[in-house]
Amino acid sequence: MGCAPRFRGHGVRTGRSDRTSKLREARDFGGRRPPGEGLLCCQAPRRVPIARSTLAHLQALIDDGVIDSVVCPLKSGKEADLFVVERAPYHYVAKVYKDRAQRSFKNDAGYREGRGVRSGRDQRALAKNTRYGRRLAEEHWHAAEVEALLALERAGARVPRVLAHEGRVLVMELIADRTGRPAPQLAQVPLSKEGAREMYEAILGQVVLMLCNDLVHGDLSPYNILVREDGPVIIDLPQAVSAAHNRQAARLLERDLAAVARHLGLIDPEIRRLGRLAWQIWAEYEGGTLVPDFRPDPERTRAAAVEDLGGLVGELRAAADEADLERRAAAGDRDARKLLRAADRRAARQARRAAEAKEAAAAAAKEAA
Ligand SMILES: Nc1ncnc2c1ncn2[C@@H]1O[C@H](COP(=O)(O)OP(=O)(O)O)[C@@H](O)[C@H]1O
Ligand SMILES: [Mg+2]
Repeated sequence: MGCAPRFRGHGVRTGRSDRTSKLREARDFGGRRPPGEGLLCCQAPRRVPIARSTLAHLQALIDDGVIDSVVCPLKSGKEADLFVVERAPYHYVAKVYKDRAQRSFKNDAGYREGRGVRSGRDQRALAKNTRYGRRLAEEHWHAAEVEALLALERAGARVPRVLAHEGRVLVMELIADRTGRPAPQLAQVPLSKEGAREMYEAILGQVVLMLCNDLVHGDLSPYNILVREDGPVIIDLPQAVSAAHNRQAARLLERDLAAVARHLGLIDPEIRRLGRLAWQIWAEYEGGTLVPDFRPDPERTRAAAVEDLGGLVGELRAAADEADLERRAAAGDRDARKLLRAADRRAARQARRAAEAKEAAAAAAKEAA
């Protein structure tokens, strides 16, 4: 079995001063230990090299009384090492984020757009990519997943519940199967045609609910959806973006749905077609009329949007220009930086207007009802 020894009393000292442990009151969730069984059997390979800094973070969780012990490694993903941990009588998952240097996904600047940055100093540090700026970017990255999970939990979405967030570690509900073992990724689950359709519907429902709460996942894939007996659970949200404030949101929404539809489309090819309808969801969102029950209409064509081909071409050009500006700004071109700032202001104005339109439409709908 691929389980590591428990780390209780391992003696790794951390000396960290920036602990922000926020152990949540509701602790009665998480995977229950399977009755009559010993350690969980995790999906990790037999010998998993664990970085010293990761051990130190886990030890700090034990020292601070957030968890009792580490049960076993769960997965080592592209951005984090995950462990099954125990806080009696439950099992949870601890996600220890990797250092930016070790992460394969480093280009997070686009995802950061629209996330609140505290001060002008911080904004400058982020833009100049100073050491302080890089640390700040890391904090934002970790906090973004926690914030998204908390917001989605409040909205009733199917995401793991957060137990605690401390430094580089997020402790959350273990999404488990009936026996208490970690639930499989969608990519590993065999489905019938009908099952694939139902699964797509359920995931679409979550995507729409997320957008109703102004969030786009940004990295949705069959690996970031776990399949529990009662349906799909969405995980891995550090790159979730604000739909109102991130100019890539519509593109990310399309990509998210297409990724799921591509996978399930292998089982039922019709689903691939359904995955191309994200534009309808975005149109409802922009118009301020998106509700959790909204589902795209497969019969509706994009004719209306094609009429506005001029506008579409303009948008594509603007996106290409912006990418060019970003490259020039990164190379130190002051004019490019100025133009980018102006574009940011323009986008913020547009987002404000869209949000106002949404509020007005909601108020009108309320009045009509
Ligand atoms: N709360 C959870 N419950 C059960 N398994 C989980 C949970 N969170 C993550 N996992 C497992 O760990 C894998 C990697 O986690 P993820 O959050 O996607 O990190 P990464 O960014 O490294 O991909 C997931 O694909 C899933 O199999
Ligand atoms: Mg993942």
